[in-house]
Amino acid sequence: MTEASRHDAWEMGDSYDLYMGRWSRQVAPLFLEWLRPGRKLDWLEVGCGTGALSAAILADCDPRSLIGIDPSEGFLNKARANGEDPRAEFRVGDAQALSLSSGTMDIVVSGLMVNFVPDRQKALQEMARVARAGATLAFYVWDYPGGGMGFMRAFWTAAGALDADARELSEDRRFPFCTQDQLADLARQSGWADVEAGEVEVPTRFKNFEDFWRPFTLGAGPAPGYCVSLPAERRQRLKEKLEADLHYESDGSIAFRARAWTIRGGAA
Ligand SMILES: C[S@@+](CC[C@H](N)C(=O)[O-])C[C@H]1O[C@@H](n2cnc3c(N)ncnc32)[C@H](O)[C@@H]1O
Repeated sequence: MTEASRHDAWEMGDSYDLYMGRWSRQVAPLFLEWLRPGRKLDWLEVGCGTGALSAAILADCDPRSLIGIDPSEGFLNKARANGEDPRAEFRVGDAQALSLSSGTMDIVVSGLMVNFVPDRQKALQEMARVARAGATLAFYVWDYPGGGMGFMRAFWTAAGALDADARELSEDRRFPFCTQDQLADLARQSGWADVEAGEVEVPTRFKNFEDFWRPFTLGAGPAPGYCVSLPAERRQRLKEKLEADLHYESDGSIAFRARAWTIRGGAA
């Protein structure tokens, strides 16, 4: 674990869903619309977490089978609890060393994971290895460096103003490579053919300040992990700063947008 990743906390499925799953569940169907996959395919989803993208695949893509892989047993339990589906199976695993035979999947995808893996190129090579010749490979990650994750940037801007150490922890700083061009290059360097990039975007509207703040206090994900690591008095100061700094709509809601870059290619 690197110094900047020490607050990446991927255990508590319910907390993750309140922080990020509520938005990843909205972006997943848009990614699938962009991808336009065929029907009755054997799918692998790498880094499936609590099953946001898995649920969309099962609902929208008529898969023959779906294997979801993630290192977090806690997240996988949440994905399994979404509803029994005989087509789906969730297994503990690591993107950098998939325990699947080569050339066995029709389509291999990943949502919001690639930036968190220490060896990203190895992860994309593994996605290609387990795919059949001509299979589709695709992933998406948030546009952190381009300001595409507004509510996270607001959190880290306030945190960084109060704590110089927090500045290095923000996803903007940690994941500068999350641009369309660099992600597409990474896919090419990993052996993906015919690489194309796109984008999908969803509104992220919080009912009020409490709706914005509470997920950060639940500890699942980098910013919530940092938030709960603060002593109570410093956490209170951060809360007050954010409450004062945010822009509110006339009904008291707080509106941001979340943009993800989408990358697709083919297995050679
Ligand atoms: C931001 S979450 C995304 C989860 C889910 N795909 C979604 O869209 O909501 C990042 C996920 O990457 C997983 N992850 C982190 N390192 C991984 C690795 N080496 N291999 C596979 N998954 C990993 C985490 O456990 C977590 O579930």
